[in-house]
Amino acid sequence: MNYNLLESPDATADAGSPRGSRPEAGPAGGIGPRKLRTKIFLVAALVIVAVSVFYLAYFPRRLEKNLVRNIGGIIETTTALASVGLAAELKAGDKAGLEMVLKENCRQAAGIRYAVVEDGSGLVLASANRDVAEQNMYRESDPTQRPLERRAMYRTRTPVMADGKALGTLFLGFSFDGSIAGTTREKSMIVIVCLTAIFVSGLLASLFSGMITRPVIQVTRTAEKILRGDTTQRAKVYSRDEMGLLARTFNAMLDGFERSRRDMEMANKSLEETMHARSQEVEKEIVERRRIEKELRLAREELENRVEKRTAELSKVNEELSGKVIETRRAEDQLQSTLDRLEKALEGTVRAMSLTVEMRDFYTAGHQRRVSALAVAIAEELHLPSEKIEGLRFAGAIHDIGKVVMPAEILGKPTRLTKTEFQLIKDHPRIGFDILKNIQFPWPVAHIVLQHHERMDGSGYPDGLIGEAILLEARILAVADVVEAISSHRPYRPALGIDKALEEIRRGRGIRYDMRVVDACLKVFKDHRFTMKKESAGVIYQ
Ligand SMILES: [Fe+2]
Repeated sequence: MNYNLLESPDATADAGSPRGSRPEAGPAGGIGPRKLRTKIFLVAALVIVAVSVFYLAYFPRRLEKNLVRNIGGIIETTTALASVGLAAELKAGDKAGLEMVLKENCRQAAGIRYAVVEDGSGLVLASANRDVAEQNMYRESDPTQRPLERRAMYRTRTPVMADGKALGTLFLGFSFDGSIAGTTREKSMIVIVCLTAIFVSGLLASLFSGMITRPVIQVTRTAEKILRGDTTQRAKVYSRDEMGLLARTFNAMLDGFERSRRDMEMANKSLEETMHARSQEVEKEIVERRRIEKELRLAREELENRVEKRTAELSKVNEELSGKVIETRRAEDQLQSTLDRLEKALEGTVRAMSLTVEMRDFYTAGHQRRVSALAVAIAEELHLPSEKIEGLRFAGAIHDIGKVVMPAEILGKPTRLTKTEFQLIKDHPRIGFDILKNIQFPWPVAHIVLQHHERMDGSGYPDGLIGEAILLEARILAVADVVEAISSHRPYRPALGIDKALEEIRRGRGIRYDMRVVDACLKVFKDHRFTMKKESAGVIYQ
């Protein structure tokens, strides 16, 4: 809270004054309201004094002028009236009447002290005050005497005229002590009234200024107490006017500040508690982090040691493995060389076995080689794995090896075989199986040879297998065997041609022969990927 906002502008303007000279004066200086009260009082006093001075300067002088004017009027009137009355008596020459008229005028006129009438020669004809007449005092004059002083004598000399002729002279003496004393009393009364008015007005101005400034003083002192730390102080409300409203507004503002201060204190306390709790959490986190960092450092050092140790071990093992790898490669090279020789030996063996059969059966010569080639072409069309294709190629080259035990007369008989002879021929797949079953081929060559006369509908031999029970390689070999057999010469008939052969497998598609194998075989011939060459012994396919 900015308590300096309570400092009055007057206090700032009077910065050169000895602030703090009063012990009770606070930051507000405690002089703002007092100066305001003094100003109000001085202004009111100045106005009152000015009015009083004007009143004192104007009204006494006016009283004096009125008095002088009244005295002049009385003298003039009295003189004129007396002259008129005396003129008749002088014209008649009646001294007794003259004196009676003179005294009557003196009795009726105010302020006359003497009256004397002379004739033209200076002889006193009548007088209202014989002592003055006998002592000739009515002829005296005192021009320096001020007219309004008490005991002053106003003297007049007036000719008494009748018919335009001066019959005598009238001397009158006036004294207005009573009127002057009355005027003096009135002037004194005016002064007393003015002084009383000044005093009363000053007192009222002081009270009024106090009434005006008291709420301000209260507000200022309350603000000073609040600045000293006593926030429970409130300004006392004295009236229902604007000043009272100022005090009430000030109190309401203080209440608002107090509520805000309490709210801020509560918020600050809550914030401090939160910060304290957070600080403790942060300290715990720092301790935990340092512990983790220490553990990580130790773990890293241990890991580095292990890595270093393990690296040394691996380097040693690597060196050992390098030697073993060299040895293994050398062994692999030797093994590969051995495998190559074995493969060549195997191929030579298979070729020898194939030639053995063909040497005993002239018409079968080249049959196994052509069946093998066609079977490989069909397998490639079916996208079989290369291992299966290789096995199929070996099996096709020796698939009729079982005929090696068949009598040459039956194999080369130019007429149809008898039932007994045919039953003998039907044993060649099992005989071939028996010949090959103990040879450790990497492929099921013996079983392919055994099943190459099986048919999908079970009409084949020697076991009458059905469908998927027949190896895929055997199903391919069967189709290739039928196509080659029909299209080439046989001892008992001439070659029927490739069209007859393809017609046979097309009729047996999905019945005796595998549907996919037949489609692949037809596509191979349709795409001319398998060409035909004629030899003296028959039709040769590559
Ligand atoms: Fe066969």
